[in-house]
Amino acid sequence: MLERKPEPEFMDDPLEAEAYSVTDFSDVNKKFVETFCAALPLSGNLLILDLGCGPGDITYRTHLCCEQHKIIGIDGSPSMLRFAQKQSGSRSLTWVLADAKYLPFVSKSVDVILSNSLLHHILDPKPLWMEIKRVIKSGGFVFLRDLFRPQSEKEARRIVELYAGDASDLLKQEYYRSLLSAFTPEEIQGQLSECGLEYLSVKCVTDRHVDIFGTIL
Ligand SMILES: C[S@@+](CC[C@H](N)C(=O)[O-])C[C@H]1O[C@@H](n2cnc3c(N)ncnc32)[C@H](O)[C@@H]1O
Repeated sequence: MLERKPEPEFMDDPLEAEAYSVTDFSDVNKKFVETFCAALPLSGNLLILDLGCGPGDITYRTHLCCEQHKIIGIDGSPSMLRFAQKQSGSRSLTWVLADAKYLPFVSKSVDVILSNSLLHHILDPKPLWMEIKRVIKSGGFVFLRDLFRPQSEKEARRIVELYAGDASDLLKQEYYRSLLSAFTPEEIQGQLSECGLEYLSVKCVTDRHVDIFGTIL
């Protein structure tokens, strides 16, 4: 099995944040929001957190889909949040600078947690899962999507060429590093079991993405 090589947690280099925020992820982000909205089993006025929101494209698209909900995009990188803040000034869409492992919310106060491409940044994910478990209400819904680690460096290079062949060298290097920093579905299942969240579903949905989702007991 390919060994994990963790990458830095926060994307706080201004150049890196800018390169990420100007990259067109609209297709994958649109699919993420469609899948999330179709899977969301709750209605009413919900409080939704987007953990590791980066430049906020997914947060904003989710807001457009569900304007009745309050959505808060959270990121630990001021450079990323500067881009996110350009998305909207609506009262139902706000941005908070915070570490997702130490959320500024009281226990059992959040209805929904979503996240895309955060997990592979986290060196030790146990505090993240425990924090998700702490802030979310019983009956709340979680939906996280991330990369999973390929079997070999050759497979990682194939994925980079296939899905980011036209991207800049910087983005290709980052994509490759992200794949090597990602967890396998089995590792994610182990993390959930350790945190008492083993009932959540862990499902590979493409040749590189894994979804972790379900209703909190
Ligand atoms: C690959 S980007 C994904 C951004 C966005 N979710 C998207 O799909 O476009 C990962 C983001 O997670 C943020 N991040 C990493 N570790 C974090 C943590 N512990 N708390 C909050 N944000 C974190 C990074 O700063 C970065 O903006």
